[in-house]
Amino acid sequence: VKAPKNRPTLITNIKSIEGTICVVDELKKIFTIAIESAYPDLEDPPVVITLSGNNPKFGDYQCNSAMPISQLLKAKNIQTNPREVGNNILIRTPSSPLIQKLEVAGAGFLNIYLNKLFVEHVLNSILRFGVKPPPVKRNRIVVDFSSPNIAKEMHVGHLRSTIIGDSICRVLEFLNHDVLRINHLGDWGTQFGMLIAHLQDKFPDYKTHSPPISDLQAFYKESKKRFDEDEDFKKRAYACVVELQSGHPDYTAAWKLICEVSRQEFQKVYDRLDIKIIDRGESFYQSRMDTVVKELKEKGLLEEDEGRLIMWGSTEQTGIPLTIVKSDGGYTYDTSDMATIKQRVEEENGERLIYVTDVGQYTHFATIEACARRAGILKDGQKIEHVGFGVVLGEDKKKFKTRSGDTIKLIDLMDEGLKRALDKLVEKGRDKVLTPEELKQAQEAVAYGCIKYADLSHNRINDYIFSFDKMLDDKGNTAVYLLYALTRIQSISRTAQVSFDTLMTEFEKSGIKLTHDAEWKLGKVLLRFPEVILKVTNDLYLHSLCEYLYEISSTFTEFYDKCYCVEKDKTGNVIKIFYERLMLCEVTARIMTKCFEILGIKTVSKM
Ligand code: ARG
Repeated sequence: VKAPKNRPTLITNIKSIEGTICVVDELKKIFTIAIESAYPDLEDPPVVITLSGNNPKFGDYQCNSAMPISQLLKAKNIQTNPREVGNNILIRTPSSPLIQKLEVAGAGFLNIYLNKLFVEHVLNSILRFGVKPPPVKRNRIVVDFSSPNIAKEMHVGHLRSTIIGDSICRVLEFLNHDVLRINHLGDWGTQFGMLIAHLQDKFPDYKTHSPPISDLQAFYKESKKRFDEDEDFKKRAYACVVELQSGHPDYTAAWKLICEVSRQEFQKVYDRLDIKIIDRGESFYQSRMDTVVKELKEKGLLEEDEGRLIMWGSTEQTGIPLTIVKSDGGYTYDTSDMATIKQRVEEENGERLIYVTDVGQYTHFATIEACARRAGILKDGQKIEHVGFGVVLGEDKKKFKTRSGDTIKLIDLMDEGLKRALDKLVEKGRDKVLTPEELKQAQEAVAYGCIKYADLSHNRINDYIFSFDKMLDDKGNTAVYLLYALTRIQSISRTAQVSFDTLMTEFEKSGIKLTHDAEWKLGKVLLRFPEVILKVTNDLYLHSLCEYLYEISSTFTEFYDKCYCVEKDKTGNVIKIFYERLMLCEVTARIMTKCFEILGIKTVSKM
């Protein structure tokens, strides 16, 4: 006998919905009840809900469970067909204020037509309460992103990690999760030995006078050269590492100074891109690495291999093992990440551990996860989420470099973005209509917005071609196009001289009505916002949010072409204002603004 299932609670009254609701989730609940009552003997029957696509003939959503269920039944020797299954589900579907009509079509597809009153109600509550997140259980989530290496260049790969990681944090924060944004700086490698030794020689009074190492790159190169050519220097460099790792105050002071120079450089990038992040580099884990190594030894999980101590992800010893202790006794990137996991699970109580790096580190994190599980650091149900991304290529599809073949400095890249954004605005004559202050705001919004959007709007797994020409195109799915679209929508009420207060007074009288087909279509697209957000928080692919933003904007254009918001006579005098449509414009603008916010893109009211 099967245990009785928990029957999910359904929405029975539209009025109980305040703000947002995820329609697919509610439909899933409704059809779970229907399917379980139609086929109580099936274990976990599939409940498949999809959007119907562009043909209104198929309704707004579909339940496509009939086909797989009829196959499951056939496997149990129950003779039936999808259409019959579809009908069976249909008659058992509980009534819902979300649904206006249901029908079985073709091979058992259940077409679901949404109730207009419901959609209008949701849009009205967005106007009343703002764009609210769908309610979810609050989780503690650690997001490890950006994470450049001290004394080395912060390169375009780190830029991708920064942009993607920040946006992931933003979407999770929007859902009210407890997010810890961690910058896992590479601040603890052997390179610090040579940097410190070089600093001691060149600037012996570094503790009282700040040495001119603003060009840390050059400083790094000099010390590397000495390290490679001078045996004595090399020995001293190694000795410095030992002193540093045992906490000697002078060496710690030198190390701090070097880190600070790097940090200031990184901070310039973060300030420009409006990124908030907590610095917690590899050095933070030094004592925790001692602890984790001890634990792994005690559990008998380490093995000797040519003087090193290694650990396999599985007892079958497949794949590549981690190097936990080097033959000279030092720790590695692997050791630090084992300590990182332990710290995030045990001290931070992290429920989701997210790491944003290039796909090249996929195996590293898979092995770390496997080892952490073997060691009992990760428990059942806990996992690492590696958010991988492809490499950045130049327009020649080769590794992104300057014309002279050097790596591109991020600050230079952003300056070029600023310059090109301004050229674009001037080309459109915007310098003649905007005040200097407005022009500057538009320039920055476009420059940083286009760099972020170009990155986020592509499937992150793929390599991506960096092209200012493409990202500054004012047609197509680009930040420039969408930012323009938003300012235009926001200006509709302004040009009709309808103040926000007037709009809200009219709203109290009637509220949004979706009468015209184009209004109805736009309303249903806007309704999907929570659905898109929840999908993004699950799979951490931000391009679907960008696609959605673009879809809103194209559906809006269609609406605006077909429906007058303001009617004017031949001389341009306003003769009629369609307030309900202006309300729809307002909701559209609010949702688009929220999407931009989540993507970390600043919007402007004029551009
Ligand atoms: N510093 C590393 C790099 O530049 C990225 C660190 C990512 N985070 C981590 N916990 N391993 O590739």
